[in-house]
Order: sequence, then structure tokens, then C-alpha cells
Amino acid sequence: MPLSKRFTLTRYLIEERRRFPSATGDFNALILDAALACKAIARAVAFGELGGVLGNHDADVGGCVNVQGETQKKLDVLSNEYFVRLNQWGGHLAGMASEEMDLPCQIPAQQPRGNYLLVFDPLDGSSNIDVNVSVGSIFSIVRAPHEVVDSGRDVIEADFLQPGAAQVAAGYALYGPTTMLVLSVGNGVAGFTLDPMLGEFMLTHPNLQVPADTQEFAINASNSRFWERPVKRYVDECLAGKTGPRGKDFNMRWIASMVAEAHRILMRGGVFLYPRDSKEPSKPGRLRLLYEANPVGFIMEQAGGRASTGYEPMLGVQPTSLHQRIGLIFGSRNEVERIERYHAEPVSTEPSNPLFVERSLFRN
Ligand code: F6P
Ligand code: MN
Repeated sequence: MPLSKRFTLTRYLIEERRRFPSATGDFNALILDAALACKAIARAVAFGELGGVLGNHDADVGGCVNVQGETQKKLDVLSNEYFVRLNQWGGHLAGMASEEMDLPCQIPAQQPRGNYLLVFDPLDGSSNIDVNVSVGSIFSIVRAPHEVVDSGRDVIEADFLQPGAAQVAAGYALYGPTTMLVLSVGNGVAGFTLDPMLGEFMLTHPNLQVPADTQEFAINASNSRFWERPVKRYVDECLAGKTGPRGKDFNMRWIASMVAEAHRILMRGGVFLYPRDSKEPSKPGRLRLLYEANPVGFIMEQAGGRASTGYEPMLGVQPTSLHQRIGLIFGSRNEVERIERYHAEPVSTEPSNPLFVERSLFRN
């Protein structure tokens, strides 16, 4: 398609919002600011070592372990800065929260405050940066409580503790062979590819849909001894392939970059599991509810897929803290529903499927 016929992200937003007369220009401007942060990060990622951005963040300039107890990379810190700086002045936000920041981030006193809260993981999969494998950014937008908007007060943790179903928009940018922005403003999911010469996100993937069925799953199998029984059963059955109860072979992928896995699943189906496990009893799951599970859950559901904890729909979970972790399963609807059925079945003391447990690669 010639460039002149393509929609830019700006045009897409304007045309989308015309269908919602109550929407204000504020919301579009907010998405464009978030997209600008993603473009700035894409540029930093593209320059890599040439830009001096690889490696760990220097402890001398502000510490190097984030609130999650993870070593911060230089690009984690830079990406967080881009998100904060490029979104704090527009007047659309009442506050922000980031995976990289212990406390909610306030809009500076001299800047106007707005109606929305922006929550983000500025650089997801950052362990992949130094080996030049895809990373991404992921963000979620909810309305600020009325009382915050009316009073203009500083935001507190409780303001952000809204279930995923309250999101008005969510998106991610994937810094892969091309940079893409995938976005839902609550009316389906659209994908945009960054034209690096124009510096514009162009609509290339309208109306993305996750295939309902799949023969591909993604899980970090090194954790298998910590998995709960329904997850073990599901993976064992996939591994048994044609000779097992599923009657078909499965393929496995693990990029260790959730945004990249979400994108693969959006493009060709699949199921992703980072389930609740017993590895660290203080952490019921690896991924974060507000920064990762909710936005990816919103995008999956908007694309006809499904997101769950295994026990309940992800978007219904009432958050209890800003940095809360949770078991996350998402992707092709029929597969996620199957995993939910396994979680709902009464626990038996027998191995789930003796025939396959004996042959399982991941047997305890
Ligand atoms: O943000 C956490 C994250 O990097 C995800 O992007 C990814 O899915 C996961 O952690 C990888 O975890 P692990 O190191 O256990 O494979
Ligand atoms: Mn992450």
C-alpha cells in the first residue's frame, strides 16, 4: 500500500474517538505522548552499544536494584525517564506508576494535572538487552478517581488499585526487527509499524485477532518442579503430543520477554504461562499485575483471546498493592479455558495422568 494511503497513529486515534463523542482530545494526546516515549526508547535500543546504553545501571548514580529486587539495566533507567519526562507535562495525567519506581510518580507542581493514570513497565524483558534479543514497553491507562481529579491532590497507591476491567486503554511497543506499537482503546486491537524515516507509527495491522486454537505453548520449563498440578498436567499433555490425550503435537517457545511472546501469540496464536508456583512463597507468580498482566490481558481479550490467573479471569482481579505479582496465563481462548478447567477440577491425590507422568521430561 502506498504511504499516502496509510493511516498514521494520530489519524487512527482521531477516527476511533469520533465514534465516542464523549471522548476528549486529551485522551488522544496522552496516547501520542506514550507513543513518543516508545519511539525515544526504540531509538536508544537501536543504537545499542554505539549509544553506550548496554549493561547494568551504575550504582554510583542512584542505585542499581529496583523495588522488585532486580538489577536495573542502563536502558531500564533511561526508558523509565523517557516515560516520565514525556508524559508529565501534557496535562492529561493525575499521576503515574512504574515497575521501576517504588512509589507513585507525581506530576510536578508547576504542571497541569488531568483525568487519567498511566501505569507502565518501561522496558520489559530487559535481561535480553545485552544479547540483542527483542525487548518491549507495556502500558495501561485507567481513569483517576473523581476525588483525585476534583481535588488535584497527589496520587497515592490506593488510586491505582483498580481491576484490569477498568482500563480505558492498553498498549505495548515491541523493539524487534521492526518497532511496532500494538494498542487497544477498548474497541479491538490495532498494530502500527514505526516508519523509521518518518518517525511515525503507521497502521499496518488493523483488527488483530488471536486464533482460538493453537499448537504452541510458552513456559519457563526450568520451574517445572515448582508448578501446581493443573499446570503440570497441561504441559505433560502438550509434551505427549500425538500419542497423548490431546492427539496432536505441540511446539514450545520461550523468549523470556513477555511483550515479544504476547506479540507472537497475537500474530499466530499460542498460549503463555507464567503460573503461580511455589518457587518463592513470598511471590505468588513472577509477573506484575498492574504493569504486565492487566495490559496484556486487556489486549488479549480485546483481540478475542483470554487472560487468566488459572483460577479467575485476570481482568476481574482486585489489586491489593502497586507491585503485586500474580500467576499469568494468556493467549488462544480455547487453550486458556482448558487450563482454567484443569484448575477448577477437584485435586486428586493420584497423578493427573499416570501414563504420561511416567514419561514426562519435566517429571519431579
Ligand atoms: O518482566 C519480566 C520478564 O522479563 C518477562 O518479560 C518474561 O516473560 C519473564 O520475566 C522471563 O522470566 P524468566 O527469566 O523466568 O524466564
Ligand atoms: Mn517486565
